[in-house]
This record gives sequence, C-alpha cells and structure tokens, in this order.
Amino acid sequence: MILLVVAATGLISVPLLLRDMARGSAQHRLQIARKILAQVPLIDGHNDFPWNARRFVYNKLQSVNLTSDLRHVRPWNESVWSHTDLFRLREGMVGGQFWSIYVPCGAQYLDAVQIALEQIDTVRRMVQRYPSHTALATSADEILEIHKGGRMASLLGVEGGHAIASSLSVLRSFHDLGARYLTLTHTCSTPWSEYSEVPSLQQRGLTEFGESVVREMNRLGMVVDLSHTSTQTMRDVLAVSRAPVMFSHSSAHALCNISRNVPDAILKQLALHGGIVMVSFYNRFLTCGKNATIHDVIAHIEHIRRVAGVDHIGLGAGYDGIDLVPEGLEDPSKYPYLVAELLGRPGWSEADVRKVVGLNFLRVLRKVEQTRDHLSAKKPISLEPLPDIDEDYINNNCTYDLREN
Ligand SMILES: *[C@@H]1O[C@H](CO)[C@@H](O)[C@H](O)[C@H]1NC(C)=O
Ligand SMILES: *[C@@H]1O[C@H](CO)[C@@H](O)[C@H](O)[C@H]1NC(C)=O
Ligand SMILES: *[C@@H]1O[C@H](CO)[C@@H](O)[C@H](O)[C@H]1NC(C)=O
Ligand SMILES: *[C@@H]1O[C@H](CO)[C@@H](O)[C@H](O)[C@H]1NC(C)=O
Repeated sequence: MILLVVAATGLISVPLLLRDMARGSAQHRLQIARKILAQVPLIDGHNDFPWNARRFVYNKLQSVNLTSDLRHVRPWNESVWSHTDLFRLREGMVGGQFWSIYVPCGAQYLDAVQIALEQIDTVRRMVQRYPSHTALATSADEILEIHKGGRMASLLGVEGGHAIASSLSVLRSFHDLGARYLTLTHTCSTPWSEYSEVPSLQQRGLTEFGESVVREMNRLGMVVDLSHTSTQTMRDVLAVSRAPVMFSHSSAHALCNISRNVPDAILKQLALHGGIVMVSFYNRFLTCGKNATIHDVIAHIEHIRRVAGVDHIGLGAGYDGIDLVPEGLEDPSKYPYLVAELLGRPGWSEADVRKVVGLNFLRVLRKVEQTRDHLSAKKPISLEPLPDIDEDYINNNCTYDLREN
C-alpha cells in the first residue's frame, strides 16, 4: 500500500519511506500483541489497588466507579500511587490480575489478621460489583474459562507472612477464602521467615515452623511467593517446597543490586525447580534510580531469560504500590505495547511471548495444584500453639495468653 502511494506520487524521500515502513511494522506488532492477548490471558502477579481503596475511600466501594477512567477522578488522579481501574485493565487486555491483600508490617502482632480479612472482603465485594468485567478465579482452569468469556480473572495473593499471625489455621482460612499465594514476608521478618534487608551473614531464613508453613501451602495448593524475602529464605524454601514457587513482583539483581531483586544464583535454582519471576515495573528496582523506561523492563526480562530461561519469566508490575513508573508503561493499559516491543526484539517468537504473558504462570499454578492433589491423603498440619515461637509471640503480641487461665 505504502509502496503504491510512493510510486504514484514519487514525492516521498527514501529515509521517510523507511521510517514509515518501520512505523507500519510497529503497528503490525501491536496487532499481533492484541491477538496474543485475546488468546492467552496476560496474568499480572501483583497489584496494590485494594490498599489504595482502603486509604482513599476506606473500602467504601460505592464511592468509586471502577469502570471509569480514574485518571480524571479525585483523589486517584492526584496520587502518584494510583494507576489502576477496570477501564485501564480492559484497555490493556489484562486477563488475570492478582490483587494484593497487603498488610503493613506495623500491624504485625496487632490487627494484621483483621486487616487481611477486610482486604479480602473488599476484593470479593469489588468482584461482585463488576460481574461484566471480572470474576474470582481460584484455579488455572477458572482463569482460562473467565478469560475465554471476555472477562478478567481476579485472584487473591496475601502479602506479608505476618498476616497469618504464625497460625496455620489462619493460613488455611485465607486459602478457603480464595487466596492462592502468600508472600512469606513484607518489609519485616516474621518469627519464622526472614525478610530481604537482613544482612546476609545474619540471615536465618526459614525456621522449622516456617518449613511447616511451606509444607502446608504445598498441601493446600497455595503458591509460595518469595518477593521481599531474604536470600536465605529463598534457598530454604527452594529446598523444602515440593511445588514450584513464584516471585510476584521482583526484578533481576544483576541489573539493579537492591535486596528486592533476584540474584542470578537463585534464578538458576528457581529454573531447576520450575518456578517463575514476575518482573516488577518499579523504577527503583529496574535502574536503582528514579527514572526508567519500557526498555529497562525489557532488559530485566531478557536478563532473566539468559540466566533462567524463557519458561521462568512473568509480569508483576506492582501498580498502585509504586510511586515511579517506567516511561511507556505508566499503567496497565500499556501492556499491549510491552508485548509488541518484545515481539520486535531479536530472538523472541510469538510462542516465547505467550509464555511470558501467561502460560508460564499457568504452568506453575497447575503444578502447585498437582502437588496438592498428590498430597491429598495428608492431613492438615496441626501446630497450635507454636512451641518454638511461643514466648516470642506472646511477649510481642496483643494476644490472649492461654497460660493465664
Ligand atoms: C461508571 O462509569 C462508566 C464509564 O464512564 C459508565 O458507563 C457507567 O454508567 C458508570 N456507572 C455508574 C453507576 O455511574
Ligand atoms: C482530578 O480530577 C478532578 C475532577 O474530579 C479535577 O477537578 C482535577 O483538576 C484533577 N486533578 C488533576 C491533577 O488532574
Ligand atoms: C550495588 O552496586 C554499587 C556499585 O554498582 C555498590 O556501590 C553498592 O554497594 C552495591 N550495593 C549492594 C547492596 O550490593
Ligand atoms: C526523571 O524522572 C523525573 C520524575 O520522576 C522527571 O522529572 C525527570 O525529567 C526525569 N529525568 C529524565 C532525564 O528523564
């Protein structure tokens, strides 16, 4: 078509023609990207919208229309922490979204369990309010079915091991309510797992009780999320877990050496174990600075590919929980551009791209479900009260001491 026009007018210079052809092929890649996203659900591992719902509207969902574009609605449009609404998720063709059931570390030993329950309730109410946009998914099959029906699957991931208050009963209850991953720590250690900022020589990783948490998650069919954990916790989990594990929102340590990113040695182990790193889009994790672009995200994806392989990469932007976003990936509506950009890189086939957007995570979840089925003869682990952490727990805790009466 372009060639015909050129031939007819004879006026367009050669450099301009080449530029037009390049632009045309970018447009073509975007079309392929949209076709892929219609066929394979793009699954994002981490979104903190529920916490903003709590901060901005006290979880009163009736006070916000989530299908409208919140870029034009107060107070969302005036916060650097807000990027998400159902309008932009649909524009970005997001097929599965893990909503973070985030509990701040300040709530550890206080009302962490209550906050987690309230956040789960908020997401479940949100899903019920917008049945034409989304539905709750608790399995790989459900994600695919919801996506096939033209809707986005909503998934629950609990962020912060302190949210279970060292209780496997609470863990099981979160699973019953639909939670399909638990991030073992946030920015604090729990009595049984260490977080990322503990200096490496002092890291204890998982305690014996922590190992029981992982075993119980294997039995339940819940994915262990290692974002925010210390390197020793990562190693310990990889040694104990019978199912593959995930990083819901982390990037590559080799490209930005903060403790939230995954070191190459762990990437290699993770690959052998069958797990996935869902790449975070936080500028501070991408470049270790304030500024980043879509190309930095690609660089992290390609690094993880070189070290772990294309089967172990996913996407976990972390929108609504970050205050600096890459140029070109400002919110979830931009996802098709990322997919198009990857399609334009050397060495990336459509099949590779399908894995990164969703098939890799689906594989991990299916393996976790198979492990659960494999362990179905096992009984729930009964470990309360907790002998190894009892004193610590009682002394720090706003809790009823059974020994008093
Ligand atoms: C919410 O916003 C959408 C998009 O602007 C609009 O179509 C819809 O009518 C609104 N819903 C309500 C209840 O106001
Ligand atoms: C945010 O949206 C409100 C309308 O709800 C508008 O009055 C205000 O100017 C917007 N603020 C920004 C920074 O765009
Ligand atoms: C990260 O690398 C920089 C140099 O590139 C170095 O100064 C810094 O100490 C490193 N930080 C960590 C946590 O390893
Ligand atoms: C870096 O980002 C800041 C805002 O986050 C922006 O004001 C500044 O222009 C950016 N600098 C460059 C070199 O892009």
